[in-house]
Amino acid sequence: MIGGSDDPVTHVRSLFAPAPGLIYLDAATYGLPPRPSVEALTRALHRWQSGEADWVEEWDRKGEVCRQHFATLIGGTAGETALVPTASAGIGLVAASLPEGIDVVVPDDEFTSLLFPLLVAEKERCVRLHRVDFADLADAIGPGTGLVAFSLTRSQDGETAPLGDVIAAARRHGARVMVDATHAVPFVPMQSWIADIDYLVCHGYKHLLCPRGVAFLHLRRDHWDEVQPWFANWRTGDPLYDRAYGGTLDDLAKDARRFDVSLAWHAWAGAEPSLALLVDWQASGVLEEVKSLSRRLAAGIGRPAPTASIVSIQVRDAEAAAAALAETGVRCAARGGNIRLSPHVYNTNEDIDRAIGALARFID
Ligand SMILES: Cc1ncc(COP(=O)(O)O)c(C=O)c1O
Repeated sequence: MIGGSDDPVTHVRSLFAPAPGLIYLDAATYGLPPRPSVEALTRALHRWQSGEADWVEEWDRKGEVCRQHFATLIGGTAGETALVPTASAGIGLVAASLPEGIDVVVPDDEFTSLLFPLLVAEKERCVRLHRVDFADLADAIGPGTGLVAFSLTRSQDGETAPLGDVIAAARRHGARVMVDATHAVPFVPMQSWIADIDYLVCHGYKHLLCPRGVAFLHLRRDHWDEVQPWFANWRTGDPLYDRAYGGTLDDLAKDARRFDVSLAWHAWAGAEPSLALLVDWQASGVLEEVKSLSRRLAAGIGRPAPTASIVSIQVRDAEAAAAALAETGVRCAARGGNIRLSPHVYNTNEDIDRAIGALARFID
């Protein structure tokens, strides 16, 4: 239970500094950074200001550490992980390389960072989109399906797709699987599925508590030769930092690093402590405490226990309700007619109980 006097979770919470009186339940919009990340970012800015920074060691190489941490969080490999600035950049790169004419199953109301690049592929590469209900994803995969692409956990309501069923259907019919795991990692265990996911993207500024601009594309090795590295740049050469001028495509990294977008340095310097902490918290069970907060919240407002961390509930006027909740000190979001609440390690049982109390007047 979160909140005991000297338990590890109390220590974890001491790393955060939400405003006094604020109950921040909105990691699905942006997660709050732990103090070591703010310090790393501040240090990076000061060293930039003073001109003393060693940009390779202090900033750029942090991307390599982040790559390894993210791979650990999803049970993948660093060699299959590319560093990208947004989920949509990763999806766009894959969409631009899809085989012409392939049949793609996608949820009808999918988040646009995934849907729009696929619509471009529909226009430019004759890809055929089949837009289906999120609930029907697995059933919609058939003999002609080439790819199923979806948010594993949806941003509008926190629903999580039945990944095992989707993967089983995809394997049965030889379809590829593309997942936006932005709202799933680190709360939905990916380890047992990652080998069956062809392409996975995740932006780190929400549940991974990173600055915006830190995102990942996990690309299974059998796709390295097929996806085209359109963003290739000075840091995608092999070895790293060895190819600034001249050369040929044979000089590109042999692994997924060839798909890196060159880094917005300070964001990655700020991200590294967040990801290191999440890896620790995953191993020590602290992240399970967040899921128990989400279950407590769901039970308190009569919703089923979520698979990830997001809990949502339909209310009459979600925008007005979110604004009224903000006035009581509860920060959450309005999405798709829902009030969306997303706890993280900085929240307590008391936060959850106060949010449940504040929500009561909006629930029929
Ligand atoms: C499901 C999902 N994916 C990705 C993103 C972020 O998109 P991008 O990385 O393209 O900015 C969001 C932001 O709300 C989201 O809800």
